[in-house]
Amino acid sequence: MRNFIVVTGAAGFIGFHLCRRLISSGINVIGIDNINNYYDISLKERRLEILNKIPLEKNTWKFFKIDLANKDSLLKIFEKYVPKTVVNLAAQAGVRYSLENPSAYIYSNIFGFSNILEVCKISDVENLLYASSSSVYGGNTKVPFSENDSVNHPISLYAATKISNELMAHTYSHLYGIACTGLRFFTVYGPWGRPDMAPMIFTKAILSRKSIRIFNNGNMSRSFTYINDIIEIIWKLINKPATPDSEFNRDLPNPSTSWNSHRIFNLGNENSINLLDFIHLLEEELGIESLKEYEDIQAGDVINTSSDCSSLRKWIGPIDYTSVNKGIKEFIKWYKDYYKN
Ligand SMILES: NC(=O)c1ccc[n+]([C@@H]2O[C@H](COP(=O)([O-])OP(=O)(O)OC[C@H]3O[C@@H](n4cnc5c(N)ncnc54)[C@H](O)[C@@H]3O)[C@@H](O)[C@H]2O)c1
Repeated sequence: MRNFIVVTGAAGFIGFHLCRRLISSGINVIGIDNINNYYDISLKERRLEILNKIPLEKNTWKFFKIDLANKDSLLKIFEKYVPKTVVNLAAQAGVRYSLENPSAYIYSNIFGFSNILEVCKISDVENLLYASSSSVYGGNTKVPFSENDSVNHPISLYAATKISNELMAHTYSHLYGIACTGLRFFTVYGPWGRPDMAPMIFTKAILSRKSIRIFNNGNMSRSFTYINDIIEIIWKLINKPATPDSEFNRDLPNPSTSWNSHRIFNLGNENSINLLDFIHLLEEELGIESLKEYEDIQAGDVINTSSDCSSLRKWIGPIDYTSVNKGIKEFIKWYKDYYKN
């Protein structure tokens, strides 16, 4: 029997990069995505075109346009390919949009994720990795954010759905012995990135000489994390399924007998950068000075995100981060080529 890895959100930013890496490494991959129109569908289609062109060794690549809400279709695929590992990246992403369209988050992130857990249970999946987010740290002011910090104060529905995912995964790992790893991504950027995120929004505005809106008067910092670094970390985590973690389960009555194979990690560049410095690097790379409009902070926004990855390093070893200078260079090179600027 062949081993398959299922990647949901395969047409999305991170999912595309992960599938590309896995398919090119000769792994059998099943991609799932509903290709929703939260942002330009043609970007998702172009990503899929690239995946479809990767030469296969003896491995298989198959893509299914399926919604996580459709449990029966998911089950059919899982029954046919019997994956041992699932990486769930499909979700309604974006903090700000969760104020506009909250039900999209309940639909994909809560209902959709519950279906993923159910099909993993029914099909005896051994290793589930799932996307969480740095937004779970909400209003926390202690930086850098550590997995040991409280996540009881989400400030957007998006963050609340991601915290819920962590709790749901915890329960399934406990009840059904599925090894679960939660991936708290910090602002991921790079080629083929998301058009609703700051690097794309800023670049588009700078090139078209439109002003960029800078919230909280620029008094913000982000752990901008280059996509290749994220993919490298996910790859290592796929190969090292979670085992019980007495530290993580320290609030149990007897932590030494903790049985949950569930771990949660920050995946974020440990050198965070001020938003205005990030914009300055974009300007330098584009050779154009931006027009700036300073505005108050937006509801749901976190002021500073900064990642403590000590537990991740303990788990997978040293982590190499791409410098923001290099990452921006690669991103702008792709952007100019893709949008023909
Ligand atoms: N990119 C980041 O900086 C970042 C930061 C924190 C967390 N995350 C999380 O990482 C994951 C991947 O993010 P991304 O940046 O690649 O986002 P993305 O929007 O590019 O990719 C998500 C993909 O999931 C698909 N999808 C959404 N709902 C679905 C459903 N119900 N059924 C099937 N497919 C569905 C979308 O069509 C999309 O292609 C998401 O869970 C996101 O919340 C991303």
